[in-house]
Amino acid sequence: MLYRKLGRTDVSIPAIGQGTWKFGEDASREKDEIEALRFGIEHGLTLIDTAEDYASGGSERVVGKAIRDLNRDDVFLVTKVAARNCSYKGVLASAEASLERLQTSHIDLYLQHWPSSEHEVSETMAAMAELVHKGWVKYIGVSNFSVSLMQEAQRHLGGVPLVCNQVAYHLNDRHIEEEILPFARERGITIMGYSPFGYAPHVFGGKGFPEAGTKERDVLDSIGAKYGKTAYQAALNWVLRQEGLVTIPKAASKHHIMDNLNAMGWEMSADDLEQIERTFPRGARQ
Ligand SMILES: NC(=O)c1ccc[n+]([C@@H]2O[C@H](COP(=O)([O-])OP(=O)(O)OC[C@H]3O[C@@H](n4cnc5c(N)ncnc54)[C@H](OP(=O)(O)O)[C@@H]3O)[C@@H](O)[C@H]2O)c1
Repeated sequence: MLYRKLGRTDVSIPAIGQGTWKFGEDASREKDEIEALRFGIEHGLTLIDTAEDYASGGSERVVGKAIRDLNRDDVFLVTKVAARNCSYKGVLASAEASLERLQTSHIDLYLQHWPSSEHEVSETMAAMAELVHKGWVKYIGVSNFSVSLMQEAQRHLGGVPLVCNQVAYHLNDRHIEEEILPFARERGITIMGYSPFGYAPHVFGGKGFPEAGTKERDVLDSIGAKYGKTAYQAALNWVLRQEGLVTIPKAASKHHIMDNLNAMGWEMSADDLEQIERTFPRGARQ
């Protein structure tokens, strides 16, 4: 397993975690989702990402069931407060409700899910710091924050460090490479890239992974094949070439989990990286 440091803490987290968007939406899938999470954990994918907004808390409930009888220190739980709940009282109430759904004593990393137009960063971060002081949460982060918002969040957390910004990062969305990633590196903030295969419809219009038969897919297929890997594994390996970066694919099957594990432990040649660079250029979202 490849590990990455969480901010400037002495905590290491797996470079690949388990996303859980859509988990808990359909009761008939719950058993499979729990099984997939447990399978991933057994294979070292102990970082689990959820949010109060995923399936209206259903995802957190599924995660809670999956980890119920495990040693709590064997998993690293990330969950998020929705932007609409980012008042001081709202943050405390949301964290308490998440703890209940997750059936756990503490959240390892608590993120503000999106910037809020209703609540000041100062108010939200004061509440986030309070959660750490109460022992409900170990570490604080944000998600979908710009450089200036990260700076503001840091300023208002007092002595509590801002350890993470969770942001979209995949071949068709490299916008963080311009400012967010360099700033985060300089400040010791871990970038947790979401949607490594480009799904998340609310952000990307549901474009998803390059389809078979497209030029983009041909490139990924042929590069992957050189290493005995799939196009998806090549895409994940490419994401992980960024030093210090963590990624959280959602995989609801054991097969996909194994594939994702095998996206680690090998490196593409400079020529292959260059070909990817030409096919998926840097810059604005595609
Ligand atoms: N902070 C935010 O605002 C935010 C926004 C979006 C997402 N997220 C987090 O990031 C996680 C991942 O993003 P995402 O769910 O949008 O999409 P994603 O991880 O880019 O893609 C998920 C899709 O890829 C498939 N897949 C997974 N591994 C595969 C493999 N090895 N080969 C082929 N297909 C594979 C999955 O299928 P199966 O499910 O059938 O295995 C699923 O359909 C979310 O679950 C969530 O935890 C955060």
